[in-house]
Amino acid sequence: MRSSGLNNMAKLKVLFATSEAAPLVKTGGLGDVSGALPAALRAIGMDVRVLLPGYGQVIAQLAQHKVLAAFDNLPGFPSARLLSGKMANGVPLLVLDCPSLYQREGGPYQDAKGHDWVDNPQRFGLLSKIAAVLGSSASPLDWHPDLVHCNDWQTGLTPAYLRFAQGAAPSVFTIHNMAFQGNFAPATVQELRLPLSCFGIDGVEFYGNMSFLKAGLFYANHITTVSPNYAKEIQQAALGFGMQGLLATRGGDLTGILNGIDTDEWNPATDKYLVKKFSAARMTGKADNKKFLQNKLGLDVAPDVPLLGVISRFTHQKGLDLLLEIAPHLIGLPAQLAILGSGEAQMQQAARNLSHLYPGKVGVNIGFSEELSHQIEAGADMFIMPSRFEPCGLNQLYSQCYGTPPVVHATGGLLDSVVDCTAETLKGGSASGFVFKGMNTENLFTTIQRATDLYHDQRKWKILRRNCMAKNFSWKASAEAYRAVYFKVLGR
Ligand code: ADP
Ligand code: GLC
Repeated sequence: MRSSGLNNMAKLKVLFATSEAAPLVKTGGLGDVSGALPAALRAIGMDVRVLLPGYGQVIAQLAQHKVLAAFDNLPGFPSARLLSGKMANGVPLLVLDCPSLYQREGGPYQDAKGHDWVDNPQRFGLLSKIAAVLGSSASPLDWHPDLVHCNDWQTGLTPAYLRFAQGAAPSVFTIHNMAFQGNFAPATVQELRLPLSCFGIDGVEFYGNMSFLKAGLFYANHITTVSPNYAKEIQQAALGFGMQGLLATRGGDLTGILNGIDTDEWNPATDKYLVKKFSAARMTGKADNKKFLQNKLGLDVAPDVPLLGVISRFTHQKGLDLLLEIAPHLIGLPAQLAILGSGEAQMQQAARNLSHLYPGKVGVNIGFSEELSHQIEAGADMFIMPSRFEPCGLNQLYSQCYGTPPVVHATGGLLDSVVDCTAETLKGGSASGFVFKGMNTENLFTTIQRATDLYHDQRKWKILRRNCMAKNFSWKASAEAYRAVYFKVLGR
């Protein structure tokens, strides 16, 4: 471990390794977090730099760059370069340029048909390896991080490489989702030049395969995840995805820190995608956003019918199957649905079918649209998020900030960030949405019904909206919690 006479007063230097960072590249919440947390850490006095793969879209957005280093002789890996860049928010970027691995048509993890890239072990093996090189005495840079902060399985091998490197900085590994593990054939250990000895239960082995996620969880000096409640849930079988034993063993080194909101991007008073800006003090603009959204999605322009918004990956995790199943009953309440998302073909088809069956009542956009996602947060009356599990979830944070109370399942970060509306919590000022226990259609339906009933009580609904908008989910508090973790790891 590096012990280069650390000066307590010097800025803490952190290498933040990630496979996506908004607005350069985003498939979900990891992109949002990597786009915002490094800036928040810098704002409280740290020198944080982001390491990101040079996908085509990232290289295309780099204004000017210098070649900082070339890696031509890394055994087992193709030649690669490190380019300098800057995020729009000023965070320095280290872009890992390796066109044969990263520049291709399709997404960061999958091809255009939704199949995982077959060379993902090499693609994210290289990312993990370079993060470890930069965090060790083998680094070609003259900037040496005190700590390497890794995110999700794509950088899971970094803590393992660091463990076997000379002069290595310690690592923190953040779990954004236990469902994605990066499990590959055992031969990958050798291909990616990890010592064979690490293929065992005390190492990267997981049910006969090698696992990038397990490597991160086993070798990192400290583990964090994106909400306190999820930190508890993953230590148990139901949501531990097979790694609950390891996580429970490491429970003393596991911290849950709730994600925040990037208020430069998500603020109804300044949001560039909205037809009319609004704030808690001037709410009239929200009605204009509802009308705009109803028009845009081909819904009946009905100011008094509650409009339910959804923005989501279409996967089992998000529980949208339940919502689609009860949609006809919701329309009968009455209510309208505005759905944006993409993912599993069957769910996409079910959503499309609903919009054909109920024209003017169900508006569906299959795809990925940053613009429409902001317009739904602003134009909807309530936001529906019936996730089966949710490490943190960002949309329920955004929706509160936009005065759009969320309806959520009692799980993960949803439970940490939404307070169920009851007579007492509404009176006490803490109510900010609707929370249901027991993942089934009946509970989801009755909870949405509870929400639409309250919607028609204008006085109470206003109070609820005001509570939502008064909440503070800014990144500052989370950044301070990460700093405390860094200090703990560094023994400061
Ligand atoms: P997850 O990362 O599990 O998908 P989060 O709630 O943490 O869930 O974050 C999802 C992020 O991705 C949010 O910023 C959300 O608005 C965005 N998002 C998801 N699907 C879409 C979509 N189809 N179009 C635009 N943004 C989307
Ligand atoms: C993951 C989780 C989501 C979380 C996001 C950012 O994608 O599914 O709950 O908000 O990561 O941490």
